[in-house]
Amino acid sequence: MKDALGSVQSVLVLGGGSDIAQATLRELVQRRARTIVLAARDPGALDGIAGELRSAGATVETVAFDARDTATHAAFVDGVFERFGDIDLALLAFGVLGDQETAEHDGSAAVDIAEVNYVGAVSVTVPIAQRMRTQGHGTIAALSSVAGERARRSNFVYGSSKAGMDAFFQGLGDSLAGTGVNVMIVRPGFVHTKMTEGMDAAPLSTTPEAVASAIVHGLARGRETVWVPSTLRYVMSVLRHVPRPIFRRLPL
Ligand SMILES: NC(=O)c1ccc[n+]([C@@H]2O[C@H](COP(=O)([O-])OP(=O)(O)OC[C@H]3O[C@@H](n4cnc5c(N)ncnc54)[C@H](OP(=O)(O)O)[C@@H]3O)[C@@H](O)[C@H]2O)c1
Repeated sequence: MKDALGSVQSVLVLGGGSDIAQATLRELVQRRARTIVLAARDPGALDGIAGELRSAGATVETVAFDARDTATHAAFVDGVFERFGDIDLALLAFGVLGDQETAEHDGSAAVDIAEVNYVGAVSVTVPIAQRMRTQGHGTIAALSSVAGERARRSNFVYGSSKAGMDAFFQGLGDSLAGTGVNVMIVRPGFVHTKMTEGMDAAPLSTTPEAVASAIVHGLARGRETVWVPSTLRYVMSVLRHVPRPIFRRLPL
């Protein structure tokens, strides 16, 4: 349960190696989150962040999780809730950007992006939502992207996978209204992380720490949607309505 000051105490992170997730965990542990379950393809790679969070006072466990291994997701979720009890926050932070150029010409590369970002997210979230419904409280926070708001020529494979997952979480949030479970969709723009390393930064680019602060702020206020930076909400509401012949010529 959240503590008396509204801070989450137990957190499950799917994609524990994510730079955004790790920045978020540093903030949450500073604000008294005490049980952290880090899930990743290679749990051994999380020793550094696990040690750091333990030094900051949290109990941290690492578990194996692969977003593409959908057949294991229901048992994985059962295992986490049975072993650690109630989870106040499930943060979905896994994702792949992929290579747009390759994905346009190689169906299996495109499917890989769709499987991790969309199918994997749907597959693991359905049992999490069911568990949270039963416990009667909790937040599912999902890292979507501005890229899902309108597909761009330059990264429409990734963008379409995020559009799909974003729509899923919107509907899920509506279906959970009144159950005590909240869904918070986080839509960052360009964030300087491993995922974007070596790329030219887009306008309004931001940092994992800024996304983390926006997530923590959004959790405290029970937000359903969080844009990072917040001005992107207005930028995207304009871009969404630009006619396609013009939109496809914009240097985005
Ligand atoms: N960076 C940006 O500009 C940006 C903008 C908007 C939204 N986002 C979204 O924010 C989330 C976090 O991204 P980030 O920027 O923090 O990037 P990141 O540091 O590269 O983190 C992505 C994480 O996804 C994990 N992952 C990839 N495939 C997986 C799979 N099959 N199963 C389990 N985990 C898998 C990776 O794990 P491994 O360590 O095993 O590779 C990695 O820890 C992603 O959903 C991303 O799409 C990022």
